[in-house]
Amino acid sequence: MAHTGRPWSDFKPPAAAPVWAAIEGLGRYYILVAALELDVFDTLEWTGPVRVEELAAKLDLPVDHLRSLLDGVVAQGLLDQFVDLYELNDTARRYLVSDGPATMASLVPVAPGPHGNWTRLADTVRDGRPATPIEDDPAAFYVPLVEGTFTTMFRCAGRADLKVRYSANPASRVLDLGAGGAPWAIAILKSCPDGTAVVNDLDGVVDVARRKAAEHDVADRCEFRAGDFHTIDIESGAYDLVVLGHVCRTEGADGARHLIRRAFDALAPGGRLLLADYFPDMERKSNPHAVLMGTTMMASTVRGFTFTHRDFSEWLVDAGFEALRLIEPIGFQQTFIATKPAATKPR
Ligand SMILES: C[S@@+](CC[C@H](N)C(=O)[O-])C[C@H]1O[C@@H](n2cnc3c(N)ncnc32)[C@H](O)[C@@H]1O
Repeated sequence: MAHTGRPWSDFKPPAAAPVWAAIEGLGRYYILVAALELDVFDTLEWTGPVRVEELAAKLDLPVDHLRSLLDGVVAQGLLDQFVDLYELNDTARRYLVSDGPATMASLVPVAPGPHGNWTRLADTVRDGRPATPIEDDPAAFYVPLVEGTFTTMFRCAGRADLKVRYSANPASRVLDLGAGGAPWAIAILKSCPDGTAVVNDLDGVVDVARRKAAEHDVADRCEFRAGDFHTIDIESGAYDLVVLGHVCRTEGADGARHLIRRAFDALAPGGRLLLADYFPDMERKSNPHAVLMGTTMMASTVRGFTFTHRDFSEWLVDAGFEALRLIEPIGFQQTFIATKPAATKPR
């Protein structure tokens, strides 16, 4: 029976949980950053299950402070604890130890962008730009970022072959714009023994690609072309595959469309564009990961926003592409594949 008036009401107030989730978000993140910085995960990898006193001795940390930190990590499901023993769980083993198969250990500290920009977010919204955008010193931000994202993007690029079948053309010619550590170009070249790649990134960042390509034994098939992807020279009709991997969301709508047009021009007839990014749904609310990535871009770049599947589909078609497909080679990593018509129609 519903009651009305005091002390009861049949109006049930909403829970405060979403507000607490936002408040705790900051602490959750910095607990993880501290645990990584203090080498908790890598140390637990070689100790196995361990008492906090023993771990504190190994890490040379005060016991009570370490226990409090570890409990905060356990509360987030990122470590296991049995009575007073702590140990890695499967999530930590896969993502948080530095040699984990899908490690994100070096990505965690840099992924949200410069931390100081978050404390000035209201000013950024007021002013329409961050006070210290990453474009002021792109290499300082992107070098550690692309080191941190390489493992994930390399897995994504390798898995994409199951859908894209780039390996079917062993002599693929690849153009990777804003390549970072070149996870896409390297994955493709490793599957295409006679393939070659032009690997572009900004001066200072392209050296990461150079080093990663050498580590993967494909550097001799890469030309490293440093410079701004909006203005560097690109041959027309010369490539089988063009990669725009997580570059459009810093460029604004006009910049993203310009890159798509450059990709179209660079492709040979029948060639394909691989465009990876985080795409919000059309109403911008049922894919929070992509939506929040857009806010992250707004917080730290001059023109950065994420754009929806529909936006990209329209821009790709406008540029002349056909046969659009959207794939998700690994969780959260979506990629458009778009084909340049075999016989380009006059536009
Ligand atoms: C988020 S990272 C993506 C790296 C890589 N493509 C991937 O998918 O992992 C964006 C990359 O774009 C590069 N970049 C940003 N602005 C650029 C520009 N104007 N010209 C060339 N590269 C640029 C950055 O240096 C960085 O390496």
